[in-house]
Amino acid sequence: MAFTIKKICCIGAGYVGGPTMSVIAQQCPDIQITLVDMNAERIAAWNDPDLDQLPIYEPGLSAIVEEARGRNLFFSTDVEAAIEEADMIFISVNTPTKNYGKGKGMAADLKYIELCARQIAAVATSDKIVVEKSTLPVRTAAALKSILHNTGSAVNFHILSNPEFLAEGTAVQDLLNPDRVLIGGENKDAIQALVDIYSRWVDTDRILTTNLWSSELSKLTANAFLAQRVSSINSISELCEKTGADVQEVARAIGMDSRIGSKFLKASVGFGGSCFQKDILNLVYIARTYNLDEVADYWEQVILMNNHQKQRFADNIIQTLFNTVNGKKIAILGWAFKKDTNDTRESAAIYVADHLLNEQADIHVYDPKVPSEKVFVDLEYLNSRPAAETRRLVSVSEDPYEACKDAHAIAILTEWDEFKEYDWARIKRHMKSPSFIFDGRKLLDRVKLEEIGFIYYAIGE
Ligand code: UDX
Ligand code: ADP
Repeated sequence: MAFTIKKICCIGAGYVGGPTMSVIAQQCPDIQITLVDMNAERIAAWNDPDLDQLPIYEPGLSAIVEEARGRNLFFSTDVEAAIEEADMIFISVNTPTKNYGKGKGMAADLKYIELCARQIAAVATSDKIVVEKSTLPVRTAAALKSILHNTGSAVNFHILSNPEFLAEGTAVQDLLNPDRVLIGGENKDAIQALVDIYSRWVDTDRILTTNLWSSELSKLTANAFLAQRVSSINSISELCEKTGADVQEVARAIGMDSRIGSKFLKASVGFGGSCFQKDILNLVYIARTYNLDEVADYWEQVILMNNHQKQRFADNIIQTLFNTVNGKKIAILGWAFKKDTNDTRESAAIYVADHLLNEQADIHVYDPKVPSEKVFVDLEYLNSRPAAETRRLVSVSEDPYEACKDAHAIAILTEWDEFKEYDWARIKRHMKSPSFIFDGRKLLDRVKLEEIGFIYYAIGE
């Protein structure tokens, strides 16, 4: 039986659900899309007439929201009403790593997903296609299915896996022009219904259909491979620093081999973001569950290398500042996990700052898009010290020049373009001497900064 999709509901109006539904709404004006979230503040922000107040920052997103909102794109806290009306329900709620119990620090916490499934099961009175969009461990679909099919009602549920491959900061472009769209499922008509939506703007040869588990596992594998490339080049960056090789030159030389390719070879202070670490941990956890210890150890090393990179970046700052940063002002430029997003989940900046705070450094943070309270919340979440101590040692500046004033050192932790345009001579004049820059993104121009009088360290040089 072919499905006609007139109404879509998406549960979870975050970094994934927000941009994805906005783009679908823009491309399919005849489909009514309701994005629901239990977080009323977030929904209010999505509905704010001032587009600068949208809860997430993504280049190009506000224009799309402006075009579709109120036409066929709606934001609401009424989860049940939206479920009831919808022909197709996307689940894009958060799946953080468990911080308690079995699988703590490794497995994904599926409580939000399960809650959604139970809510759908309780409310639905007509057949639904349920699409898992969140990043999930393999076989989550099986759990969803079991909850949905044991409701005792006559309603049919068809479960699809449609992993997101969008990267933050380029989400809109990634959605409009994806390398591929992946749809996993069992029911051919349900799969076709979702293919029909994407094929309005994506070539059908880029839309892959697989079984449910292949789709789920492909998502984890894609992120594991990408993260592995970053850890691989980061491991070489340390070797470069010891041998006099330059990691950018090495990356360029190997990247020109078409078998290797040039992307994701940028050495950095360490990868962050909500996906890479979580997905690898899921992969490791699944492998361990099946007693595949060699497989688990292999992938775990990608995370261990990343932790090492963040730690050694902080250690290098401490060592260079004559083995003590106690009471020394250190400016951190960039708190987001990459440029062009206000997302800070797993950002390397959090861990570098935490190491420096262990040494009682006086930290001043500036980020063009991250609200100041977020910086404190991120640090407090680590639970490394009493909140009062964090608030005593850390300040957040609205102005980069203020953040750098009287600092002993500056650490560049996000590759925001605006950092390249600063008046570095002016910054130097107001810093302590010697004035150090630790460039965790290899963003700035060594020659120019050394001419001004900075002592400049970059990853992999
Ligand atoms: C990632 C995947 O790219 C995307 O397909 C998936 O859907 C979600 O996870 P995202 O986390 O948004 O996207 O950003 P990404 O561009 O992949 O960067 C992740 C981290 O790696 C960032 O901290 C980034 O700065 C770092 N990185 C990336 C490097 O350090 N070097 C690189 O060469 C590339
Ligand atoms: P992601 O990066 O995966 O999009 P976010 O944390 O940005 O993650 O977004 C997930 C959203 O899902 C949050 O805004 C959260 O409030 C919402 N959410 C989680 N569980 C539910 C639920 N049962 N019903 C409605 N919204 C939910």
